[in-house]
Amino acid sequence: MRDRSIRRRLLALLLVPLAAVLAASSVAGYSTALAIASEAYDRALLDPALAIAQRLAAPEGRVELDLPAAALEMLRVDAADRVYFAVSTRGRLIAGETGLPALPELPADGVPVFYDGQMRNERLRVAALTVPFAEGPVVIQVAETVVKRDRLVRQLLLSSAAPEVLFFIAALAVVWFGVTRGLAPLDDLRAELASRSPRDLRPLAEANAADEVRPLVIELNELLRRLAESIDAQQRFVADAAHQLRTPLAALQAQVEAARHGLPPELAATVDHLHAAARRAAHLAQKLLTLAAIDPSADRPFAPEAADLAQVAQSGVTDWLARADGKRVDLGFELDPAPVQGEPQLLAELTANLLENALNYTPPGGEVTLRTGRRNGHPFLEVEDNGPGIPESERERVFERFHRVRGTPGEGTGLGLAIVREIANRHRAGVDIRAPPSGIGTIVAVSFPTAQSAA
Ligand SMILES: Nc1ncnc2c1ncn2[C@@H]1O[C@H](COP(=O)(O)OP(=O)(O)OP(=O)(O)O)[C@@H](O)[C@H]1O
Ligand SMILES: [Mg+2]
Repeated sequence: MRDRSIRRRLLALLLVPLAAVLAASSVAGYSTALAIASEAYDRALLDPALAIAQRLAAPEGRVELDLPAAALEMLRVDAADRVYFAVSTRGRLIAGETGLPALPELPADGVPVFYDGQMRNERLRVAALTVPFAEGPVVIQVAETVVKRDRLVRQLLLSSAAPEVLFFIAALAVVWFGVTRGLAPLDDLRAELASRSPRDLRPLAEANAADEVRPLVIELNELLRRLAESIDAQQRFVADAAHQLRTPLAALQAQVEAARHGLPPELAATVDHLHAAARRAAHLAQKLLTLAAIDPSADRPFAPEAADLAQVAQSGVTDWLARADGKRVDLGFELDPAPVQGEPQLLAELTANLLENALNYTPPGGEVTLRTGRRNGHPFLEVEDNGPGIPESERERVFERFHRVRGTPGEGTGLGLAIVREIANRHRAGVDIRAPPSGIGTIVAVSFPTAQSAA
């Protein structure tokens, strides 16, 4: 399976060969150093053998070693290792120890040989030399234990491996840092995409992109452009369709109204239904048009100005009072100053949708209050009613387009709160539905950013 992380792949591609190279160089360095050092030890081991060779004589035909015991002891002195020797000819021991490891083969005269062996559970390194005599070749063997050689191996291992390990750790850190830095442009791109709202289809900055990433950015931008175009086209289609529907629907309504006069009662009921249907259709066309107009992808730019939610609410008071009267609902206003950056026209549309809901769904005799002001520094606008309320499980879904709570009376389209949320989003305001403290009814509150953060 291919590794899907570029970072891991780069690290593996760089670090595995690097580790292999380091290991190989460490092995090579170790074995060269070991060969040189043990050759030096071997030479030192040969010295006592040569010294002994010079003291061999055969005055009466029999080979003898003419060396005082004290001198022999001197030859055997070594700080770390025990040294043994043996001088023999044709199986006769002339001097030294018995039991030294046997020679693999008899060497040529005067040519030293070195070999490894064992005696009484001790590993030994042996230097051997033959000297010709009439009696036969005399073999001189000098052996020493391998304490200092073993110590040397340990030291060499440590001194060749430790720097390589440190070097590898340093390389790991450098490569890790380099790869992470090298991949930063991808992270930047990811962060830029992640921070976007789904509606934000502006092209990504191509000029700053790294050469390797630019083709990707260019393709992404092309895709974003096509996506924006197709969304625009859809948007325009909905807006155009809604617009085109409005006129014939208004005409239909007027015609049906005119036709109703003087009809026999059984036909009048049918025409009433027709009238209601035409009114619903006109209402739907109107809401669709509003939704299309405030959509961020619509051509119309958002142009906020200094506004006051209290004044926005104030401007429609007489209209709303009349409608509330008609439904025998007690409508109250509690308007404190609430300065915001916004478009008064959109804010009025938002307020209208909230009041319309409260008046529509609160039964006659109920109460509706429109409030503006500031809470914790945030300007807000809220509408409270003591109607049927919105169940907790529906409080998120009612913002979806065309969603209505089951069993809701009236001719709504389910677009009102979607419009409210869209307008709130444009103002970077949050919409929240909760129940009033009494537990009966609904509060829909829109909380705006503080004046400074809005600016
Ligand atoms: N104040 C309220 N009291 C009780 N239910 C409400 C209230 N406001 C909204 N709802 C519920 O939320 C649903 C969605 O409201 P929304 O305003 O989006 O659509 P609508 O009022 O049904 O239709 P439209 O506003 O498009 O004519 C409503 O159908 C209703 O069930
Ligand atoms: Mg509504």
